[in-house]
Amino acid sequence: MTTQAARCPLHTSDYTTSPHPAVFDELADSGPVHRISLPGEVPAWLITERELAERTLRDPRLVKDPMRVARYGHPVGSRRVPDDFASVGGRTIMNLDGDDHVRIRRVIGRRLSASALATAQPMVEAFVHHRLDTIARNDTADLIEDFAVPLVTDVIGRLFGVRADFARAIVTHGSKLFGPQHPEAPDMVEAYPLLVQALNGALDEGSSKEGRDDLLGDLLIAQRDGRLRKREAMSNLALLTIAAADPVIALISRGVALVQADSHARTELLHGDADAVVESLLREQPPIPFTGWRFATEPMDLAGHSVAPGDAILVLIPAANRTVNPGYRQGHLSFGGGVHRCPGGHLARIETVAALRGLFSRFPDLQLELPFEKWVWVGGIGPRVPERVPVLLTGAAR
Ligand code: HEM
Repeated sequence: MTTQAARCPLHTSDYTTSPHPAVFDELADSGPVHRISLPGEVPAWLITERELAERTLRDPRLVKDPMRVARYGHPVGSRRVPDDFASVGGRTIMNLDGDDHVRIRRVIGRRLSASALATAQPMVEAFVHHRLDTIARNDTADLIEDFAVPLVTDVIGRLFGVRADFARAIVTHGSKLFGPQHPEAPDMVEAYPLLVQALNGALDEGSSKEGRDDLLGDLLIAQRDGRLRKREAMSNLALLTIAAADPVIALISRGVALVQADSHARTELLHGDADAVVESLLREQPPIPFTGWRFATEPMDLAGHSVAPGDAILVLIPAANRTVNPGYRQGHLSFGGGVHRCPGGHLARIETVAALRGLFSRFPDLQLELPFEKWVWVGGIGPRVPERVPVLLTGAAR
């Protein structure tokens, strides 16, 4: 099949101005697979159909480690800084396959399972109430800066055992490094040593406390008994901290817009099945538009397109969530799929339910000062987060 290049969603004019850029539906309607060019001239295959996406995310012929398919001049493999502990190309679970992936995921997965998190719910709710008390002092608030960012950083800090200021610094500088800019852009160059400084701070402080019961403690114990290298502990702490922030902030924000506008969703959230409200939000409005990329290790056929070894493949999640054939089970790919499926889903759901319930119980007449359609979205291939969500806290029961 001859393959025409499609528009890359990242390059469309409404990518920063629309909650659901038109290109998501255009691509979903015009075929299951598209050839696009990602920033940095990286060619990639983009899957927009649900069943093909699910199968591909589980296909053992695809790998996550770009070095395994690196060839001279490969636009992805050659950009990786070899063995660099805190870079996007570091030894994180996002870039590793097979035994290495399983070994590290086992260390971190334990803390993030539904059963481990059952006891975290009161802690998350206490942080929500603390933030609500703080914003209640004024009649207006920016729900990003004044509510979602500090809430999510507080939760990460407590659960991971990272001091809140280190957690905030890791999120700020790390999000930049995970962003779409060129590795030599001044912002990136500046962010790197600051990220390393914050990571070192968190690890040094962590090592000085014995008998700790948190994720950082697990990483340090695994490092001490040889299950993790120091670089792996560091780069995975960075990945986890960064990955746990923006998508949750994005989901909470979208939830605010939904619940504010839809009285049925509000009744369900406050008096019915709040988990179902968040699940449908995840399906209809995925906070991250793309799965992580995977690379073909051998020639493959993708819905009639010839994929060559080394080619990058991604799923366009909002499109794949929509294109479900009749009779196919519900659900969504908002947390990706296969062995790299997001390990943070339970935590994200707990935080979002607690945040939305707390906000709308405390401020039943909350109004958006800027309509949802006018929000400005920041982010490239990763989470798309509204720049600000100004609200009026009218009718507040203070
Ligand atoms: C609503 C919130 C979230 C969304 C929508 C989300 C979505 C995703 C997606 C789409 C992936 C890529 C999966 C793939 O390529 O198949 C991913 C990976 C990942 N996420 Fe999340 N995520 C969220 C929250 C979190 C949280 C709270 C954490 C940490 C506590 C987290 C940690 C990770 C990690 C470590 C990976 C890499 C997993 C691997 O490659 O094995 N995420 N997430």
